[in-house]
Amino acid sequence: MSSIPVRLGILGCGNVGASLVKIILEGQSLIESQTGEVLEIAAIAVRNLSVDRPPWVPRDLLTGDPFAVVTDPTIDIIVEVMGGYDPAKILIEEALRSKKSVVTANKSLLSDYGEEISRLARNQGRDVFFEAAVAGGIPLIRSLKVSLAAERVRRVTGIVNGTTNYILTRMAEDGISYSDALKSAQELGYAEADPVADVEGFDASAKAAILASIAFGRNVLLQDVSREGITAVTLDDFAFAKRHGYTLKLLAICEWIETEGNSDGKISVRVHPAMVSLTHPLASVRDAFNAVFVEGDAVGELMFYGRGAGGLPTASAVLGDIIDAAHNLRFGSTERHMARPEAQILAIDELEYQFYIAIDVSDRPGVLGQVATVFGENNVSIMSMEQVGLGQEARLIFITHLAKEHAVQKTLGEVRKLAAAKRLVGFIRVLGKIDN
Ligand SMILES: NC(=O)c1ccc[n+]([C@@H]2O[C@H](COP(=O)([O-])OP(=O)(O)OC[C@H]3O[C@@H](n4cnc5c(N)ncnc54)[C@H](OP(=O)(O)O)[C@@H]3O)[C@@H](O)[C@H]2O)c1
Repeated sequence: MSSIPVRLGILGCGNVGASLVKIILEGQSLIESQTGEVLEIAAIAVRNLSVDRPPWVPRDLLTGDPFAVVTDPTIDIIVEVMGGYDPAKILIEEALRSKKSVVTANKSLLSDYGEEISRLARNQGRDVFFEAAVAGGIPLIRSLKVSLAAERVRRVTGIVNGTTNYILTRMAEDGISYSDALKSAQELGYAEADPVADVEGFDASAKAAILASIAFGRNVLLQDVSREGITAVTLDDFAFAKRHGYTLKLLAICEWIETEGNSDGKISVRVHPAMVSLTHPLASVRDAFNAVFVEGDAVGELMFYGRGAGGLPTASAVLGDIIDAAHNLRFGSTERHMARPEAQILAIDELEYQFYIAIDVSDRPGVLGQVATVFGENNVSIMSMEQVGLGQEARLIFITHLAKEHAVQKTLGEVRKLAAAKRLVGFIRVLGKIDN
């Protein structure tokens, strides 16, 4: 039995949009036989009508007027795969006001306006789905939202940016510098000509905010995420990590922290490079792959692994959302909508880590003592120290015991003021515990 077609308005026909058009047109009979839904592409909005499109994109469906698409009364679902804030936000809002459900892959928009957009969807009795916004083709958002809906998730630790994971993998495995690894990522199309969004951790931070919101049921925004990128990571850091059975990964960490006297939990969300034990499942995630490690009270440990970007994997996640939205429209239902209260954010300053710290100093008697005294005065206890001769200078490499971030930052500020301290050449937090 064939259903009435569900009409789609697609905003954007780039990497994701064109791949989506392909899998819908080529997979029509599979989609219908597996889901009962018949999808019809009604219009595809683009910025520039004169750009060459892949051969499977029907020319007669292209339009330069996305506003006409979102207000077209014959369209049921708007798929926003254009990216950016403006006009994507207004178009999504207009679509919801016009009683259409929305599927989007737009992490930047959701990390700033996710709750506002969800509220509008709730009020309009429509869905906003965004499986593709975090970790591309990996079915993660729905797992957190639906399968783990009532789980007390304690921590979500993810490698959610394929570009930086590729760069760090090349540094670890081929021993090439950060700038050579970046060049290789650019040649392969993993990194943009302007790589800032990836290498400075902005992309991962947007995803971390979305993950934390879903995992903990609170409204976490991009501005709540502490962010540090990978540009300062060196081959020396990798060499140290390797000697101690670790590697380096850019991690997005979302944590639910209960403190005494606080009935609600606090949330910590941060993105930074971290030393990860080679025995941790995330250490084996190589190249441009993504993985997200979830720890919950009842479920224990879960790991989601796959391609976090790319036209087809991302379009696959978008298509799954479209099918859900189509089903709900047909049966007059929506997903389970919940208002998310504001999150209480715990600043990274308050967290405890072990730290790897490398400082170049003048190689003179007494300098180690001066540096160690500053650590001690700030209650930062040193677990191990290595000294490497560098001619006139020496490199002091410390692993601290667990210490508060603010105490370590204060220590480093004071060490920098010592005449013998030349430069801080390594500062990386440790995931878990180094105890050798
Ligand atoms: N690429 C991935 O692997 C990936 C993974 C996960 C999530 N996402 C998200 O998916 C979204 C799309 O990414 P993408 O890589 O497909 O981007 P893209 O290749 O740059 O494509 C963007 C498309 O949107 C169209 N567009 C942009 N501004 C427009 C406007 N004002 N009016 C009408 N059309 C407009 C562009 O039109 P023209 O073609 O005429 O320029 C283009 O077709 C983004 O939110 C991105 O963050 C992407």
